[in-house]
Amino acid sequence: ALRETRVGIGAENVNANASGAYAGEIAADMLVEAVQWKILYGYHDWHSKPTHTEIVDTGALYRNIGLFMLDEGIDPKDAEAVGGALDKINIELKFENGKQIILLNGVDRGDEIRTPAASMAASAVSAIPSVRNYLLDMQRSTAKKNSVVMDGRDIGTVILPYAVVKIFLTASPEARARRRYDELLAKGQTVSYEQVYNEMVERDKNDSTRKIAPAVPAADAIMLDNSESLEKTLETA
Ligand code: DC
Repeated sequence: ALRETRVGIGAENVNANASGAYAGEIAADMLVEAVQWKILYGYHDWHSKPTHTEIVDTGALYRNIGLFMLDEGIDPKDAEAVGGALDKINIELKFENGKQIILLNGVDRGDEIRTPAASMAASAVSAIPSVRNYLLDMQRSTAKKNSVVMDGRDIGTVILPYAVVKIFLTASPEARARRRYDELLAKGQTVSYEQVYNEMVERDKNDSTRKIAPAVPAADAIMLDNSESLEKTLETA
């Protein structure tokens, strides 16, 4: 059924700038513009342009679950406690005018999911099999209903193995930490560059070495480095 997805683009590790939401925008620009036009229309004989593509930031799902555990005072690393709390969560994923909205038990938590604490909690809960399982169908059914550019570490390997185009987008830790730092500053958060950098490196290590669905490129993924500018990356693409 996943083969029905018109433009199933799995963009693993589009955390090239260390921010799911911002990465989503970059993914949108990059993939929709460069990939959809150049690769799909250049090399595949498709007759019509998909009229609508949803940009799906899957990291935000893990971030909401991490945030819920923090709300409840549950240690996000405690697999049993986290697994046991999942049935108290209702996550609704929807799209309004091209913008992804997630309701956690009915509430859009906005930027709360982007704090350093929520980031670490997201990374911790994402290593727990029951959490990944919990989010699996939601991600697949979203891709089945819509043309999607889906951003997440396991999209090309686990969630959408039949994606038409898979891009593994990376960037140097320094470039990503700098972008995330600038983003947090712009939001008025008080953080140091070192803290952002160290937490990012720790999170990367968790995410790429975990046993289940680690952040690794699919065998058929296109590798893209986004350490420099978006323009440069688009040129390469
Ligand atoms: O992309 P992000 O930084 O918003 O993701 C937050 C965390 O969620 C990240 O540390 C790992 C996890 N994650 C994942 O395991 N699988 C995904 N498809 C997306 C995110």
